[in-house]
Amino acid sequence: MSTTKKVLMLPGDGIGPEVMRQVLRVMDWMAKKRNVNFEITEGLIGGASIDAHNNPLTDETLADAMAADAVLLGAVGGPKWDNLPFEIKPERGLLKIRKEMGLFANLRPALVFDALVGASTLKEDVVKGLDIMILRELTGGIYFGQPRGIEERDGVRFGFNTLVYSEPEVERIARVAFDMAMKRNKRLCSVDKANVLESTVLWREVVERVATDFPEVEVSHMYVDNASMQLVRNPKQFDVMVTTNMFGDILSDCAAMLTGSLGMLPSASLGAADKNGARKALYEPVHGSAPDIAGQDIANPLATILSFAMMLRYSFDMGDDATMIETAVQNVLKGGLRTADIMQPGMAKVSTTVMGESLINELDKIA
Ligand code: IPM
Ligand code: MG
Repeated sequence: MSTTKKVLMLPGDGIGPEVMRQVLRVMDWMAKKRNVNFEITEGLIGGASIDAHNNPLTDETLADAMAADAVLLGAVGGPKWDNLPFEIKPERGLLKIRKEMGLFANLRPALVFDALVGASTLKEDVVKGLDIMILRELTGGIYFGQPRGIEERDGVRFGFNTLVYSEPEVERIARVAFDMAMKRNKRLCSVDKANVLESTVLWREVVERVATDFPEVEVSHMYVDNASMQLVRNPKQFDVMVTTNMFGDILSDCAAMLTGSLGMLPSASLGAADKNGARKALYEPVHGSAPDIAGQDIANPLATILSFAMMLRYSFDMGDDATMIETAVQNVLKGGLRTADIMQPGMAKVSTTVMGESLINELDKIA
């Protein structure tokens, strides 16, 4: 039996298109060997869309994204567009697609691959075997709160933003976090700043209330300053962390660096489940567009390939296939192949293309 999955590919800017090409090979392999049909369409986002349409995300692309079963995004941004007005910067395209698709739950796993444990700046025993999941609220909080702006009041300029959360907004991300904890090690740490910010006093209250529906999950609360310290001091104390949009932005970069290999980390952004259980979803690597190395065939395609694996797991209920891709990634690394960003002494440095090819060979062996 073969089912068709509609996937919209948004390669974006910088290294986005070249890492995306390697994912296309994996999809092609899946179509041939695993009998899944992907109906692939491509669109523009970020700087690429600004160049073509003077708009980082057009209504057409947004409509395609809404109609797709899942979206895979490369990366957006670059120096070429840095000086554009705020409203049409590449990043606005990303924020708009998240908001319009209602992708409130952002999953950012930070996983240390055994073969790469030496790549972390932290001591090996602190990070070996690390596997945490950061759940970031993605469509609310200070990123979107009103009022916002820059204005002059009595001759003095003010810049301001609003940190606001409603109970339902907190509740829905909390529920995703508890569900996630139930599927993992049943520990959830909610990160807030409830000693200073009322919005997160409410956050903490709602998390406590939702917790009563999940008696098996061990819940803790941590202030964000302490959480950032604990992440570096002893990251393995965490299983699932759930937090606000901006705290999640910051903590997930910190967690990413624990692994020493930003080029390896995938992410998923999910919307609410509809009546059939389907969710709008967008998958993207955590790394950026890396304009300094774009077009040189040296970028690491693994984060985007692992994002595709997350798509299989969370959008298409193909957990076994996702695990297969993840195992293939582990094996390629064990075999000593490295792109430049994760290069270590004694290993073989390979290009983006060769990394993609080797992954396919590995998949052939496993399947
Ligand atoms: C991220 C990025 C974005 C964010 C930027 C590019 C708008 O840092 O996905 O973490 O702040 O959400
Ligand atoms: Mg960020």
